This record gives sequence, structure tokens and C-alpha cells, in this order.
Amino acid sequence: MKAFVYQGPGKSAVEERPTPDIIAPTDAIVRVTRTTICGTDLHILKGDVPSCQPGRILGHEGVGQIEAVGSAVQSFKVGTRVLISCITSCGRCHYCRRGMFSHCTTGGWILGNTIDGCQAEFVRIPYADTSLYPIPAGLDEEALVMLSDILPTGFECGVLNGKVEPGNTVAIVGSGPIGLAALLTAQFYSPARIIMIDLDDNRLEVARQFGATDTINSSDGHAMEAVMALTDGRGVDTAIEAVGIPATFELCEGLIAPGGTIANIGVHGTKVELHLERLWDRNITITTRLVDTVSTPMLLNLLTSQKVNAKRLITHRFKFGQILEAYETFAHAAKSGALKVIIEA
Ligand SMILES: NC(=O)c1ccc[n+]([C@@H]2O[C@H](COP(=O)([O-])OP(=O)(O)OC[C@H]3O[C@@H](n4cnc5c(N)ncnc54)[C@H](O)[C@@H]3O)[C@@H](O)[C@H]2O)c1
Ligand SMILES: [Zn+2]
Ligand SMILES: [Zn+2]
Repeated sequence: MKAFVYQGPGKSAVEERPTPDIIAPTDAIVRVTRTTICGTDLHILKGDVPSCQPGRILGHEGVGQIEAVGSAVQSFKVGTRVLISCITSCGRCHYCRRGMFSHCTTGGWILGNTIDGCQAEFVRIPYADTSLYPIPAGLDEEALVMLSDILPTGFECGVLNGKVEPGNTVAIVGSGPIGLAALLTAQFYSPARIIMIDLDDNRLEVARQFGATDTINSSDGHAMEAVMALTDGRGVDTAIEAVGIPATFELCEGLIAPGGTIANIGVHGTKVELHLERLWDRNITITTRLVDTVSTPMLLNLLTSQKVNAKRLITHRFKFGQILEAYETFAHAAKSGALKVIIEA
């Protein structure tokens, strides 16, 4: 089969690989029909994610059809159409029993990281019963790809952890696919104001179409003053960090109102300064989270009843043979205007 393989920092290629086999009785093999590229895949290609070693097939998002199941798999049969989750969970360990699937002791984020992922014709999914979701009849499979990672991530790490409430003021720093997923799902709670901050005017324009009440281009270095002007000098109740660099987390520290919550989503590779000398008396909360995908069943319901339009995040479509072009397009989003790119088998 053809697969997109990380070959070490700055190096990747489409390689011919053997089709994966069932290893454990709880495994399933899925024929991938649609996949996509995540900001995290770009981090891996740069060498930022040491757990992902050269030779790894990338990809942790997609939909497909069951090709084979191990003897212990009970919920899926050959031919069932399934949603692949970025998080693999055994359902039994200490963390799984607490609903913290991202920290499953033998799973978590392993796909396209410590085991081969789904940017390939086939993928092996461990713990299929507790990691895959059957696709409800009639659902748009392209839109569903947004449920493998970005919608649960924006919702759980940003909106739930950030305690977005009716009438509150929210700032989301970063208007990439994850920030936009937080913007879409924050609206479940009717905050009065959602301020999106980014350097890219095109993405801010998309954010306005997705429901942002205010947008700020922070390239002039005055985002904090702009937010204070919009909030009578108070700052925001929820600040969601959706970039993953020190400057944007520190901006969240500056934007937060007394009693507010900073919800970090970004993957950080370098040290960030925590300004406790300014924050110690402001009654704030800081949260971090790796997506657990506990909200996937709820998001599936909302997608089915068309309460959330995930398809709006898709800007480009490619065939698997064009995956290198898909990576180029996604990596140069400022030029291409790309949000999520769909790669079809
Ligand atoms: N916590 C989790 O479980 C989890 C899961 C998935 C992704 N992530 C992380 O979430 C982050 C966002 O992902 P994405 O796919 O949207 O990434 P992305 O790179 O597509 O988007 C980031 C956005 O931030 C903007 N940006 C960059 N520097 C900025 C600055 N100084 N000020 C304001 N905006 C700035 C960019 O213009 C871009 O629009 C990444 O760090 C990703 O690795 C975390
Ligand atoms: Zn991802
Ligand atoms: Zn577990």
C-alpha cells in the first residue's frame, strides 16, 4: 500500500509499505477512505515531537471502512463504516476509567505518533471497540473527518476547560483550524462576545463568517490594548490559547479578567513565562489538556442534527496520490488560504 512517511526532520515521502495485519485480538484494520493533515503533523515534520520516530506513517484523523477485525472485537464487522479518533483507549486502565482517554496507559495519542497512522491506504486500530465510532447513516463523511481531532480538541481543551458561559466574553488567540473549532463550539453556550486574534487577515475574515463578534490582527503588537478597549478595561472571562508559542500564552495572561480562565490548547515546545507577580491576586484559573475525545458522541449527535457545520472548515480536496501537494497547501496556509484539506483514497 501507499503511505506518507516521516523520514526525520525536514524529510518525508510517499513509500510503498506492507498492508498492516491484526496483531492483538482487539485490533481492527480500517481501509482509509478520507484523511487530513493536522498542525501537529507539521510539528512532527519539523522534528518537534521526539516520540514520533523516522519511518512512522503519519496521520491521526480520518474515516474508513472495516477491512478485518481481531477475534475479540465485538462492536464492528467487516464493511462497517467508521470514524477514526486521534485518541486510542483501552477502556479499562486507571485513566480510561476516569474518562481521561488521552492518558490511556497503553493508548492515548499513539496513531501517527508511536504507531503507524492513517495517511495510508490501510491502518491498524488497537482497541477497536473503544476507539472507533460507527458512522450514522446519511452523515457526510467529509464533515466527519473534523470530528477525529479538531472539534473535540477545540471543545474540550478550549470551551469546556475555559468554562465558557452564556453572556461571557471570550478571546481565542489563534484562528487556525483548532481556534476556529473552539469558535464554532463556544457558540453552544451563547457567550456575548467572541474576540478572535491572529496575524492572518484571511483567517480573521473566516472567523467573522463563523460567528466571531470582533477580530484583532495582532501583528502590530497592540492586541492587549485592543481587547481592553473592547471590554471596558476588564479583559475577558475566557482566554483560549490555540497557537502554541510563548507570545500567545503570555498574551492570554495579559487579557484575562479577574475571575477568568486561561485554557491552553497549543502544543508548546519551549518555556513560557508565568507572570504570577501580576496574576496571583486575580482569582484566575489556568488549564491544560490533551484532547480526551470524551465529547465525540455528543459532537456526532450535533453533526447529525446539523447543529454544527463542520464542513465549513474544509477548503481543499486532494486524491491520495497528491498528498505531497496537500502538505504544501496546508503548510503555506497564509498563501493558499487553507484550513483543513481532505485527502481522498
Ligand atoms: N491540546 C491538544 O490536544 C491539541 C490537539 C490538536 C492540536 N493542538 C495544537 O493546537 C495548536 C493550533 O493548531 P492548528 O492546527 O489550528 O494550527 P495552525 O498552525 O493551523 O494555526 C495557528 C494559528 O495561529 C496564528 N498565529 C501564529 N502566531 C501568532 C501570533 N504570534 N499571534 C496570533 N496568532 C498567531 C497563525 O496565523 C495560525 O492561524 C497547535 O499548537 C497544535 O499542535 C493541540
Ligand atoms: Zn491533530
Ligand atoms: Zn486505557
